[in-house]
Amino acid sequence: MARRLDGRVAVITGGAGGIGAATGRLFCEEGARVVLVDRDAPAMAAVAAEIRAAVPGAALHDLVLDTAEEAAADRIVAEARNAFGPVEVLVNNAGIRAYEPLAEATAETWQRIIAVNLLSHAHLTRAALPDLRACGHGSIVNISSTHAVNPRPGMGQYDATKAAILSMTRSLAFEEAAHGVRVNAVCPGLTLTPFHVRRLGRDHADLAAERVDNCLLRRWADPREIAFPILWLASDEASYVTGATLMADGGQKVL
Ligand SMILES: NC(=O)c1ccc[n+]([C@@H]2O[C@H](COP(=O)([O-])OP(=O)(O)OC[C@H]3O[C@@H](n4cnc5c(N)ncnc54)[C@H](O)[C@@H]3O)[C@@H](O)[C@H]2O)c1
Repeated sequence: MARRLDGRVAVITGGAGGIGAATGRLFCEEGARVVLVDRDAPAMAAVAAEIRAAVPGAALHDLVLDTAEEAAADRIVAEARNAFGPVEVLVNNAGIRAYEPLAEATAETWQRIIAVNLLSHAHLTRAALPDLRACGHGSIVNISSTHAVNPRPGMGQYDATKAAILSMTRSLAFEEAAHGVRVNAVCPGLTLTPFHVRRLGRDHADLAAERVDNCLLRRWADPREIAFPILWLASDEASYVTGATLMADGGQKVL
């Protein structure tokens, strides 16, 4: 049976984190040739080893770079071309959080979070667009958050960057439609990634079993449940979908 990304060259940033790693693995399972990028070298090595063990014959290239540095964008595209060929799918997923009320937000945190959560995606997109346009089926999936449209106190900087990602997604979809590149966003709800397990200092199994009150499904998402919507948007199954925001949030808006 044909796999959904057979032979496609995909770049995924934040590939050593929960959602990025799950997406990298799923893309490999679906036949993509995957470049995973992360600034965390030990985590990147561990995730690459896990994917290679889980997906025999995986076409995977792991790359340690800080995507917030503008020069990293050209380097990532060059590495992808070198390893596998021109980029056909780009998943802008790297992200950081800042836990500061806006009244206390410093210029330094603002600059860092904008550099990682927004500008790194803008620079990498610009660098990859010639390849994405040339292939005739280019797809960009930007990872935002439910908090882009549903903010809460204490993380205003993060929420603002995630709202900006949705805006950038729509502008880019507009600009790139004529060039055959689709651009969409996924807004994950609470997703049980190693980041949250560390942050909360609790057991993964405990958290997975816990009742979550902010969504209809009453539980955390597993990272693979976010990777599937990303896969769908990246694939030709979503060939008539662009400029869209897909809420993968267990039904938050209904409550
Ligand atoms: N987990 C959730 O509940 C949740 C909910 C909504 C949105 N998101 C978004 O999904 C994305 C992935 O989240 P996650 O939970 O898997 O997070 P995570 O912290 O586990 O993974 C993020 C990864 O990005 C990497 N990264 C950060 N800055 C980088 C940089 N400058 N250069 C290269 N790599 C960098 C980190 O090292 C990390 O491996 C993020 O954009 C996050 O904002 C997550």
